[in-house]
Amino acid sequence: MTEEQISALSVDEEEDVVDPWNVTGKSEAGIDYDKLIKRFGSQKIDDELIARFEKVTGKKAHHFLRRGIFFSHRDLHNILNVHEAGKKFYLYTGRGPSSDSMHIGHMIPFMFTKWLQEVFDVPLIIQLTDDEKILWRDIKVEDARKMAYNNAKDIIAVGFDTANTFIFNDLDFIGQCPEFYQNMLRIQKCVTFNQVKGIFGFGDSDVIGKITFPSIEAAPAFSTSFPFIFDNKVLPCLVPCAIDQDPYFRMTRDVAARLKMPKPSLLHASFLPALQGAQNKMSASDPNASIFLNDTPKQIKNKINKYAFSGGQATVEEHRLKGGNTDVDISYKYLTFFLEDDDKLAEIKKQYESGELLTGELKKIAIDTITPIIQDYQARRAKVTDELMKEFFKLRKLNI
Ligand code: TRP
Repeated sequence: MTEEQISALSVDEEEDVVDPWNVTGKSEAGIDYDKLIKRFGSQKIDDELIARFEKVTGKKAHHFLRRGIFFSHRDLHNILNVHEAGKKFYLYTGRGPSSDSMHIGHMIPFMFTKWLQEVFDVPLIIQLTDDEKILWRDIKVEDARKMAYNNAKDIIAVGFDTANTFIFNDLDFIGQCPEFYQNMLRIQKCVTFNQVKGIFGFGDSDVIGKITFPSIEAAPAFSTSFPFIFDNKVLPCLVPCAIDQDPYFRMTRDVAARLKMPKPSLLHASFLPALQGAQNKMSASDPNASIFLNDTPKQIKNKINKYAFSGGQATVEEHRLKGGNTDVDISYKYLTFFLEDDDKLAEIKKQYESGELLTGELKKIAIDTITPIIQDYQARRAKVTDELMKEFFKLRKLNI
């Protein structure tokens, strides 16, 4: 095992839990992301890296980068070097489809990926792991595929470039692409049962499909898995993902070195907190904890007013005196994700912390910010036809 893998194992009781299946923080303010960087052995996205990003791309950094929502990386400098040299790389991200409607937390990595695709003008590959859901949940093969198609439409509505984005679901795609399966096998041959136990915590009673699944999430990080897109050229890969997916890519990076392929670079997102508080991430299984992409304006308003955990004081008098706490206030946290204007956000923070702005007023600002974003999204979603979806799923060349 590498040091990275060993450090992933040493989780003591008092620590936040972050793995592909569980995410919970110990503190009201949420997960301690700096500690997570140390534990995972990744790098912090600091001001210097952001400055280099802006210099190399000639674009102002996205507010997700400026505000530490994407907070950690592995080897982003490599990707910036490649871009600086006028060479291409590609983006790879994915989603495990679920029957539930997607919520705004699911959208964070996709919104950011869309922006990256625009900034770098590079191909994007999106994997829908319907197979993963069969293995981990009580879902039938037939149903998993349908969920993948529905989720694909939800993802397409984020606004990806049709000409430069390939979307696939594992159940339909892997049988069509021998090179993908061949890479899976190369990966499987590099990782022992002991190692996956160490990385993912699999045990003796886990079904055997789970044990090989990591090779399926790893394979798209190698361009040779998609000869119809890349003509068998070896291109570096950048994976934007939520930090809970990092174990898959720690493994992929170890394997890459042994296969003499480029190690994928990574950009890690933090989680959009649940309405009830930052200890938990937004989760589709709890409708009252989440704002869904198909919620009506009325539902959004009611949920925020009723459930969004407040960092305000118990009475107006006390609030005026002591002010609110933006470290734990969910409406404020949502504004850091969805209100792009830095000056406005700073002003709101100042007013709330001084007690000038009340919780109800802050909630109204959050509602008025999030509602139009969801409405715009819904208008785009209504336009995603089966024909458009098929375009994204076609095996074809992208712009390399
Ligand atoms: N396992 C991820 C999930 O459950 C889906 C996924 C597949 C993914 N490939 C990925 C996520 C690459 C991020 C990057 O959501």
